[in-house]
Amino acid sequence: MNTEVSIVIPTYNESENIKGILHLIKEHLPKNTMVEAIVVDDNSPDGTGKIAEDYFKSLKEKTLYTINVINRKTKEGLSSAILNGIEQAKGKIVVVMDSDFSHPPQLIPKLVEVLKQSKTDIVVASRYLNGGNIQGWSLKRKIISKIGTMIAKKGLGINQSDPMSGFFAFNKDVIKGINFDAIGYKLLLEMIVKAKGVSIKEIPYTFLDRQNGKSKLGIKTILEFGHAVWKLYRHGKREQKNEKRTSVKFVSKAARFFSVGASGLGVNYIMSILFSSSLDMWYIHATILGIMFSITSNFILNKYWTFEDRDFAVKRTIVQYGKFAGFSSIGALVQLGMVYYLVDELTMSYPIALVSAVATAAFSNFILNKKWTFKE
Ligand code: GDD
Repeated sequence: MNTEVSIVIPTYNESENIKGILHLIKEHLPKNTMVEAIVVDDNSPDGTGKIAEDYFKSLKEKTLYTINVINRKTKEGLSSAILNGIEQAKGKIVVVMDSDFSHPPQLIPKLVEVLKQSKTDIVVASRYLNGGNIQGWSLKRKIISKIGTMIAKKGLGINQSDPMSGFFAFNKDVIKGINFDAIGYKLLLEMIVKAKGVSIKEIPYTFLDRQNGKSKLGIKTILEFGHAVWKLYRHGKREQKNEKRTSVKFVSKAARFFSVGASGLGVNYIMSILFSSSLDMWYIHATILGIMFSITSNFILNKYWTFEDRDFAVKRTIVQYGKFAGFSSIGALVQLGMVYYLVDELTMSYPIALVSAVATAAFSNFILNKKWTFKE
């Protein structure tokens, strides 16, 4: 059986918690699922990594539950530890959680089930959703958390109730290609901002403050949070600019393509007349040559100007020319078929039918050539 779910557990000085949490996870595995726990330890002076390894060795039944310990050399931070764990994850589904019992392992099967059943990309365990709660935090910590959440939501335009949660599950594929900064504690926030078009669900849970050991969240983490939000804000602005640029490019390319098309009509007309009158050619031959000339001039202008493709390597250019001529023929057929249908079947007047058919053929030609002939 292949590993389906990987549970990433970052640890630093969690000797009092690690064995217990690994055991509780084992007691609450999703049914009939091969699960691996990945403990990412930053060389904890209290020997957390070794305790996790020894616990795994002591297990008799290892068929559905394995434990893999990543021993890092130095303390590099929570987000970077989680990322390291994700990189090593064998499962398609990854669950991220703390090692200090703040995040109840009893919820893991539900996180995984919701992820699978609702075909969602990310499922977040939320403290701030109706039915969620926090137990054991001081008023100061609650206020800091609320302010942080508000800044992230308003500043980055996030809809989720708890984008700072450290307890979540996701399909590993959704983070393919993302370049993480992995600053401080806020990996989920970065994931939500950078993974485009993902679906996110939240389920409520009660966060329990740790009974053993200490939180590692200090003033440094708060400053790192400010830095992380600022970087994500700038990232969002850059993305907006890029989207704008792409849509302007599309419109201006379409405009160029249609101007070239119009110029092609002129070339077609002039060349056909020239061949038939000056060279005394049979009008059918003259028309065929006129079409060939206009396809060629359209091709050169579209390649060089509309799509700004300056690569004139012979083989590539011949292939492009073939595709362009092919699509032009398809366009002509589309035009012909549409005119016939509009005039004959829908009894539309010929001039209106012609304009609609030319516009449709030109637009479909543009899309086909953009996608296949001059793809970037
Ligand atoms: N490897 C590694 N390296 N693990 C770390 C590091 C580190 O530098 N810093 C913290 N951890 C581990 C801890 O051992 C624990 O398992 C988990 O990360 C959470 O650390 P805590 O320091 O206990 O976090 P917290 O309880 O104060 O913060 C919780 O709430 C935040 C939201 O307010 C966590 O759930 C965070 O993940 C969450 O963002």
